[in-house]
Parts: sequence; C-alpha cells; structure tokens
Amino acid sequence: MQLNHLEARDFRNITLADIDLSPGINLLVGKNGAGKTAILEAVFLLARGRSFRTTHSKQLIRHSALELIVRGEVESAQLVHRLARGKSRNGESRARIDGEAALKQSRFAELMPLQTLLPGIADLVLDGPSIRREFVDWGLFHVEHQYLDLTRRYRKSLIQRSAWLRSAQGLSFKQDPWAADIARNGAQINIRRRHFVASLNERIYNVIEGLTAEFDVKLAYQGANVAVDETTLAAQMADAFDRDCRQGITNAGPHRNDIDILVNGAKAKNIVSRGQAKLIASAITLAYCAELRHRSDILPILLLDDFGAELDKVYRERFFQELERIGCQVIATTTDEPKHLVGHALAPRARVFHVEQGTISRYS
Ligand SMILES: Nc1ncnc2c1ncn2[C@@H]1O[C@H](COP(=O)(O)OP(=O)(O)OP(=O)(O)O)[C@@H](O)[C@H]1O
Ligand SMILES: [Mg+2]
Repeated sequence: MQLNHLEARDFRNITLADIDLSPGINLLVGKNGAGKTAILEAVFLLARGRSFRTTHSKQLIRHSALELIVRGEVESAQLVHRLARGKSRNGESRARIDGEAALKQSRFAELMPLQTLLPGIADLVLDGPSIRREFVDWGLFHVEHQYLDLTRRYRKSLIQRSAWLRSAQGLSFKQDPWAADIARNGAQINIRRRHFVASLNERIYNVIEGLTAEFDVKLAYQGANVAVDETTLAAQMADAFDRDCRQGITNAGPHRNDIDILVNGAKAKNIVSRGQAKLIASAITLAYCAELRHRSDILPILLLDDFGAELDKVYRERFFQELERIGCQVIATTTDEPKHLVGHALAPRARVFHVEQGTISRYS
C-alpha cells in the first residue's frame, strides 16, 4: 500500500505541492513554520476526511483561497486508485475515488491505511484507554473491513439503550430490549481485540529486543474483565443493571475495556518517562505494521511528525532501519539534516524534499 503521488492546493500555507513519493522513506525537511506538518495533514485529510490538528476544516483552507483540494494516487497489489477531496469556505466537502463521487467514507481508509506518530504519540501509553482502543480498532478495521460495521452496530445499540435506560424505572434486566444485541456484538468485538492484542504482544517482543535492551513490554486486553462470549457479557450487564439505570449508560462491555501496557510487569503509565513512553508507543506501532502485513499483506503508510524529538540517536536510527526492513512507506518531517534523523547509512536511500514558506521541492 503506497501513496505514489500527492497534490495539495491551497492547503494551510501551501499554494501548490505536487510531489512523487518514494515507496520507502520520504523526508520533509524545513524550518519551523515552513509547512511540513501541513503536508502530513493533507495526506491525513485525504485518507480520513479530517485533520489531526483541528476539527474546523475551514482553518485548513489557505487564507486568501476559497477552497482546498488534495489529490493522491495510491497503489496496492498493482492496482492504482485516484483519490481526491475538496473543502470550500462555504462548508461544502467533496470526495471522489477514480473520478466518481465517493459515498462510503470508509472506502478511503480502506484504500489508504494510515498510521501516525505525531508529537502526542506518548499518549498511547500515558493517556486514558480510548486512544488505545481506537488504535486497536483501526488495526482490526484494516485486516477485516466488516469490523467497522460490527463496531457501528454495537455503538448504535449503546446509544439506543442509553435512551431506554433513562426511562426504564421500575423495569428489570429481562425487559431490556438491547441487552442481547449488545452482548452478542460486544463479545465479538472482545474476541477480535483479544486476538489482535495477543498477536501484537508476540511481535512487540521481537521489536523491543531489536530496539532497546531496557524494557520488557507486554500488552494485555484486560484479562478477567473481558467477556469473550455473549452469556458472560450478558451476566456482567445484568450485574450492572441498577447502576446502568441510575447513570443512563452501559457500564460493562468493550467500550469500557482497556489495553494494558506493562513494563517489567507494572503498568507503564505509572512508571515511564515521556521519552520512554514515546519509545514504547513507537515500538508498538512497528509491531502493529508487522502484524497488519502478516495478517492481510497491508502495510500502513506511516506519518511521522517531528519524530526525532525526545528520542536517543541510537534508538531513532534503529527505528528507521526496522521500518525499512518491514517495508513501510514513511513520510517524516524534520528541521534537521536527514542523516541526523535516520542515520548515515539510511540517509542516501531516503527521498528528501525541502519545504520552504509553503513551497516544496525534491532535493534527492
Ligand atoms: N489557513 C492557513 N492559511 C495560510 N497559512 C496558514 C494557515 N494555517 C496555518 N498557516 C501557516 O502555515 C505554516 C505552516 O505550518 P506547519 O505547522 O505546517 O509548519 P511546520 O513546517 O510543520 O513547522 P514546525 O517545524 O514548527 O513544526 C505556519 O506558518 C502557519 O502559520
Ligand atoms: Mg510541524
């Protein structure tokens, strides 16, 4: 899976970027404020229809322009697709795949799987559970597209159940019209997540060993709390029914489960430094890429923003070597010389672009 070509018009400070990308490592080099992150943001917008920096898409349109356009050519298994999105100041959005209006947004994510390592990546280790659930759910969506429908059905039932719970005074769990659907779909989600997390866990062992000798990192999908059959989940829901009624929410189920990250046996978020958290999160991402390739021959395109900060030189270089070994396409930003980010050995093989005040040109 790779992005061969990117065109971004009137996107942030970029009037026009028109670049052929390498299937390997691409580096966007430039000073602060040059427009490097804006290019990553344009790639992200193409795949996901939104930015990773703002929920207000008007902020993405260049100040004096009326609309932005991002186009890309993606290739997978020798099939080439042309993706395009536009956003106008009047709030209109357009999305096209191979020249046709795209009705299903998930088709973009399917054709262009992305994984990001943004400056907040340490949050994968340090923050609350939702970021880890989302990480695992994207992976599952890429290996099994129906997973998205499963999670949508599950979430829809949760919303409907919340409305019912608020008016359910005096009723019993047996009268709950949503419990059976939630228990069935919830157990299916749990089975898939547990399996995926176990596979990541096996891979992370090898990845960490190659990157640093400091840690023993393990992932676990919250052992005993996770119901992997609908009877157990229904029983957990029955236990929580009174509380659910009082609070108007569903307390048991995969929307509440966490993926524990353990370092040398203890919960990582309680003991690691921010740099260490970044290191662990990036190792988990490598394991994730390797697992996706193993399961479905999909390799996500990796967007790395200011990845070098906070990480030791040795680790950074090993990380890029490992990415090259797995065969991921990488688009990374840096204010530094390429060799300082990826190392002397790899730098000559990277495709380097210079970004300067909103213009981008190929350097090597
Ligand atoms: N809608 C817009 N129109 C024009 N310029 C914008 C718009 N939104 C942001 N900018 C400007 O675009 C520039 C590019 O920002 P960007 O975050 O991409 O820089 P960067 O190269 O990643 O810098 P850094 O190294 O500091 O992270 C900034 O100077 C910002 O002020
Ligand atoms: Mg930036």
